[in-house]
Amino acid sequence: MQKKGDIKERIEELRRERKAVILAHNYQPPEIQDLADYTGDSLGLARKAAEVEAEIIVFCGVHFMAETSAIVNPGKITLLPEPGAGCSLANTVTPEGIVTLKNLRPRAAVVTYVNSSAAVKAVSDYCCTSGNAVEVVEAVEAPEIIFTPDGNLGRYVRRVTGRELIIWEGCCPVHDRITAEMVRERKSEFPSALVIAHPECREEVLELADVVTSTSGMFRVVEESGAREVIVLTEAGMGYPLGKRFPGVRFIFPVAEPLCPDMKLITLEKVERTLRELEPRVTVPENIRLGALLAVERMLAIG
Ligand code: 13P
Ligand code: SF4
Repeated sequence: MQKKGDIKERIEELRRERKAVILAHNYQPPEIQDLADYTGDSLGLARKAAEVEAEIIVFCGVHFMAETSAIVNPGKITLLPEPGAGCSLANTVTPEGIVTLKNLRPRAAVVTYVNSSAAVKAVSDYCCTSGNAVEVVEAVEAPEIIFTPDGNLGRYVRRVTGRELIIWEGCCPVHDRITAEMVRERKSEFPSALVIAHPECREEVLELADVVTSTSGMFRVVEESGAREVIVLTEAGMGYPLGKRFPGVRFIFPVAEPLCPDMKLITLEKVERTLRELEPRVTVPENIRLGALLAVERMLAIG
């Protein structure tokens, strides 16, 4: 049987040989985050994917994230070690659904959360992530906005910006499963803890949070707050990078830990095989890519 240490060495060797860069989302398993050149939230990863010089990008995350990399890097090879790693939220919306809604509201601009397929982005005007949804919506000049596909994020953005949004009622089952009751329970156990939440959580959960932010935003909030106990309302994989960066802080998740099974599908073995075989690749047909790129570039230009 091959040892874990050996596999890490083989990945290192292959990465050097291939001159590849490894990007990993904050929810990835610890051993994957540890070998990544860069870890981050969807916005950080999209920016990094647009910047990197490497010709080969190994994307450790879910399909829409690797697709975003392929959208901004047409000449490069984007690899997703597990092609079956999807996103239940992204699956709640189709391009046909958006087009139907657009026909009903012709004056509306469509703002689509990055957790969506390239085909959905291609029929949207702007892309956004949890890290910049408020800024993107504030920058839209159209008189009406269709916001897809996350209803919880849409309601949060509506509350913060005061803009009337036509909201697509999709949700992330991992975040939507966190209830206000679960949060109250943790708050009564840890009354002085800071509460930070991802905007994919329900409205009544966000109301109980001190700060609502993207996964990478959580690092900044913990740093600036100086808190010693933090209740974290997002996927439990965040416990690893937060604990690594702030070893003196206690991070508390809801008792029924929110876990995204798709985010856990990437393994060291799959990363090694991907680097060796340069497969499976994620590609986007050029006509779709160009439409999606416009929406992603508008987002990146906003900040
Ligand atoms: P972030 O962009 O905040 O990392 O969120 C991505 C995601 O899939 C949350 O469930
Ligand atoms: Fe998609 Fe939710 Fe998993 Fe994030 S946590 S990748 S939104 S299913």
